Amino acid sequence: MSFHETEENPQVMEKYTANCKAHRKGMAPEEVAEYYTTWAENQQYDLDLDPSVYMGPSIVAKEAAKGFEENREKVRLIDIACGTGRVGIELSKYGFKYIDGVDPAEGMLKQCQTSHIYTNLYKEFVCEKPLPIAEGTYDCAVCSGGFGEGHIPCSGLKEMARIVKSGGLIIFVMRKEYMKDVEEYASKLEPMISRLEHEHKWELLERREVANYSFNKDGVIFKLRIKRGEHAVTNAANGTERA
Ligand SMILES: C[S@@+](CC[C@H](N)C(=O)[O-])C[C@H]1O[C@@H](n2cnc3c(N)ncnc32)[C@H](O)[C@@H]1O
Repeated sequence: MSFHETEENPQVMEKYTANCKAHRKGMAPEEVAEYYTTWAENQQYDLDLDPSVYMGPSIVAKEAAKGFEENREKVRLIDIACGTGRVGIELSKYGFKYIDGVDPAEGMLKQCQTSHIYTNLYKEFVCEKPLPIAEGTYDCAVCSGGFGEGHIPCSGLKEMARIVKSGGLIIFVMRKEYMKDVEEYASKLEPMISRLEHEHKWELLERREVANYSFNKDGVIFKLRIKRGEHAVTNAANGTERA
């Protein structure tokens, strides 16, 4: 199905419009979180972004499973921008058991809690401000749909790196067009990924475009391996490095 076919289907168009409203130009982070809280009411978010139109959760979970072929029950994961918990549901199908989540939208988190899949949930924005989580806590941070207008800034990626162990993975998927349409990312996100790779803070294992990520639009999946030691990623209050 092409995006043109999405435009021709009024029901799908309604879902697409609801999604566009979460990404209006110039939205402040607090507005984004409020929008999602309202959208989550009566499970409308899950009804709108069902797997027929939004494949992000299954895409990212499959990549995480490829990254951890054995002993998945022992892997410590954090789902960044966990929303209502769709990524956690997909991860648990692969045998992952220890999953934490972070999201700033209270309404989304409320629903996430009802899934009983997540161990700890944090109501926080992922940004340059350090999360209340110790450095090197997780084997893997996953994120689907957390990047967009007013969503996770580039500095949030560095904060994810801080809370992942040396040798651990960050796997995130986002809509391809946001990489140039969202000012925060255009000419910044990929250069920052390259720069920190040259500084040996992580290694870019993969950057791959995926078809049909959301509303028949392409996504991009990134897989980073964290390096630490003398090359630690710092977002600590007294040593915040900006992207
Ligand atoms: C499209 S939803 C994706 C939710 C879930 N990952 C999924 O795939 O269904 C985007 C989520 O990003 C969250 N979000 C927005 N800004 C964020 C930030 N700075 N840090 C963490 N999460 C954020 C929103 O609250 C929302 O729950």
